[in-house]
Amino acid sequence: MAKLLYIEASPRKDRSRSTQVARTFLDVYQKSHPNDSIQTLDLWATSLPRFDGATIDAKYAILSGQAHTPEEAQAWKSVVDVAEDFKSADKYLFSLPMWNFGVPYIVKHYIDVLIQPGLTFSFDPQSGYKGLVTGKKAAAVYARGGAYGPGTGMEDYDLQSKTLAGILGFIGLTDLVNIFVEPTLGPQEVAEAGFTKAEQLAISTAKSF
Ligand SMILES: Cc1cc2nc3c(=O)[nH]c(=O)nc-3n(C[C@H](O)[C@H](O)[C@H](O)COP(=O)(O)O)c2cc1C
Repeated sequence: MAKLLYIEASPRKDRSRSTQVARTFLDVYQKSHPNDSIQTLDLWATSLPRFDGATIDAKYAILSGQAHTPEEAQAWKSVVDVAEDFKSADKYLFSLPMWNFGVPYIVKHYIDVLIQPGLTFSFDPQSGYKGLVTGKKAAAVYARGGAYGPGTGMEDYDLQSKTLAGILGFIGLTDLVNIFVEPTLGPQEVAEAGFTKAEQLAISTAKSF
């Protein structure tokens, strides 16, 4: 029995296009993988730990091979909890809106807590960085008001998928399917066509995920 962790990042709930496509994915996934479990992490309903001075000191202590002070150890524990919860999954589904060409700040907050030495990556002066979340698969649903795909001339502005796919690759999650819902704004028939295309890819991906 595998565990799929679904990480939701739009605060728009039922009106969110990324959430709608992700829910289609999850419905199909649950039907085609009836013995698997699905855990939902709604980033807007979660109290993420602050990434403050003590936490940063704790991170640098690990990188330089030093022991934590009691204050650092306490700060680090909440980071470990987030990372261990993430790593307990076998598969991942993300859904997120584009905000100002990038990811919403809540996603950046989650990334800043999650990407840690000894937890999701390792560093060795000789061999460099190594991702520790390996042998797992992921899918991501990206909604954006405009279109950023090949031929739009807007490809370089897509910092949303570059940020998520880039950081997932860094920690070893390279088996990633990107599902774009675009454009969600503008003429209704164009938006509907983009939504239908994303739903179809979500359905076919979920079946064999
Ligand atoms: C704060 C904010 C910033 C946005 N910035 C962009 C942007 O830079 N480019 C874009 O194409 N759409 C932008 N949009 C539009 C959203 O990406 C679009 O509405 C998308 O459908 C949001 O995803 P959701 O429906 O899952 O919430 C922005 C929306 C908000 C609320």
